Amino acid sequence: MSMIPDDKINEVRERASILEIVSDYVSLRKSGANYQGICPFHGEKTGSFNVNPARGIFHCFGCGVGGNAISFIMKIEGLSFPEAVKFLAKRVGVTIEERPRTATEKRQSDERELLYKINGQAAAFYRQLLLNDPAGEAGRQYLERRGVDSATSEAYGIGYAPDKWDSLTRHLEQLRVPLDLAEKLGLIKRREGGRHYDAFRNRLLFVIADMHGRPIGFGGRVLDDSLPKYINSPESPIYHKSEVLFGLNLSKYAMREKGNGIIVEGYFDHLALYQAGIRNVVATCGTALTTGHIKLLQRYANKVYTLFDGDSAGRKATLRSMELFLDEKLPASVIELPPGDDPDTFLKTQGDGAFAGHLAKAKPIFEFFFSELLGQYDSGTVEGKVGTIEALTPHLMKIVNPIERDLYIKEISRKLGVDPRQMQKKIGRSPVSSADLAVPRERVKPRSNKGPEETLISLMGKYAGVIKRVRDYGAANLFSADLLPIAEAIMAHNDSEAGIDWALLLEQIDSTEERSRLAGIFMDDDHLDEIDANKAFDQCRMSRDRSMLKDGDVKELKKELSRLDSDSERYWEILRKLDTLRNKKSQLL
Ligand code: GTP
Ligand code: MN
Repeated sequence: MSMIPDDKINEVRERASILEIVSDYVSLRKSGANYQGICPFHGEKTGSFNVNPARGIFHCFGCGVGGNAISFIMKIEGLSFPEAVKFLAKRVGVTIEERPRTATEKRQSDERELLYKINGQAAAFYRQLLLNDPAGEAGRQYLERRGVDSATSEAYGIGYAPDKWDSLTRHLEQLRVPLDLAEKLGLIKRREGGRHYDAFRNRLLFVIADMHGRPIGFGGRVLDDSLPKYINSPESPIYHKSEVLFGLNLSKYAMREKGNGIIVEGYFDHLALYQAGIRNVVATCGTALTTGHIKLLQRYANKVYTLFDGDSAGRKATLRSMELFLDEKLPASVIELPPGDDPDTFLKTQGDGAFAGHLAKAKPIFEFFFSELLGQYDSGTVEGKVGTIEALTPHLMKIVNPIERDLYIKEISRKLGVDPRQMQKKIGRSPVSSADLAVPRERVKPRSNKGPEETLISLMGKYAGVIKRVRDYGAANLFSADLLPIAEAIMAHNDSEAGIDWALLLEQIDSTEERSRLAGIFMDDDHLDEIDANKAFDQCRMSRDRSMLKDGDVKELKKELSRLDSDSERYWEILRKLDTLRNKKSQLL
């Protein structure tokens, strides 16, 4: 039950241009009357995803999903219907005063809005200091030393917090910002006595943005070698670092376009790649990779590369992440850097070309793991071999693709000089869950063919004349139970002056699957020009009659007949009916 008034929902639906909304997530190309792109909901390379801007609907002919702008947002942002409506309302500038939102809910959401706003104010303040203020000189020099150009600095909204205790505090006071909220964001702190002071001082500031580019936190780097190197914003109502990937707002389209993403650890690593034109990159914000991160990545990429420092900490981080990739079934490879390098230093000293070489040589993460083990155990000894196999087994079992798993077993047995069948047995006996072997969710479902009923429905969508014929003949005599409500809805919509509201029509369908299927039927109607409406109509009529006969009407009527008195009017009525049905049947069969 939504608490949003219907007229607001309608307003949102009317104002939301499906083309603009989808374009935030998918790069679309015009193709005839529709737009096409790579489906964000399943891994594909072909571009089966279609948007029909005139009708306000989308459909993927690969995986079958479809609907209107609201269903798109629900699916891609993982929101409920009311949440998606609110999300879109904000985008298209519709104010929704919700009726019975509780006082607490209202306070919380108002507070979140304020928190974003305050972070934005702080970001603007620090940015302007870096750009123009005498106090920002140290920051400007630091950026120059690190070779950051002004376009890049702009893209990240980099700022500088001067070496003073109260610059931001005073600025926020001037703006009449409630300081307790700034404190909640970790922008300012408070001394025992109650006086506020700035949390970031003499640091270069990265703005941490969420996927929509809203400022949710800051990462502040010292300008020299002092410690701690970074101070990051603490967790707050709007910042949960285990769910945020730094730079996602800058990289999501590039990731989607390439189908893969690169994960780095540092803000500066991210920046270095960005400046080198490598855009499909995200960074963790000083935390280990989490399942939340991987789920987020999976929205955009169907494969990832890890690019961590070339030291033992980097290798450890890589191995820790392997577990998650295997669990989430996200294919991952490792880009290895020479010891002592991080992505930033590597690009600076070796250049883009060398980087491309390392990328091309990226090892599947399991292979990386195996070579690490080989370095760790002495594979010349029995003990070493056993140790390696014991360490590998639990991970090997998680590899979803049986062929891939088999190849690894062969490779490992060869390298260790053990009998592959023995290894096979060890793996085989271990519990592999059936879920591991199931076809991944993203795989393409077969496209459903249009039957005569679907064709007639789409003809109704295109030609008012067909609607009239259907109405005259009786929709119930043409459509089976699942499409009948749609036909009726089209007839009802057609009576309104504005014609058929396709997006609304789809919204009235409760089942997600049915909605998706219909979006497919309505997506495209160019081919209908070549279809003879009369013929489709007759086909529907006949198939309906046929299935009515099959459905046992005759049997039912005969049964009723046997119970009736031959004097009754009904008796003769039924006899006449049976006669027509028999005639019809002989015509049809
Ligand atoms: P440079 O060393 O200047 O190139 O910075 P970097 O961003 O590449 O950082 P680095 O590779 O040293 O560290 C990776 C990430 O870990 C950073 O971007 C921070 O998010 C985090 N981090 C590093 N040092 C600290 C620290 O001292 N404290 C905290 N809280 N986080 C840190
Ligand atoms: Mn670094």
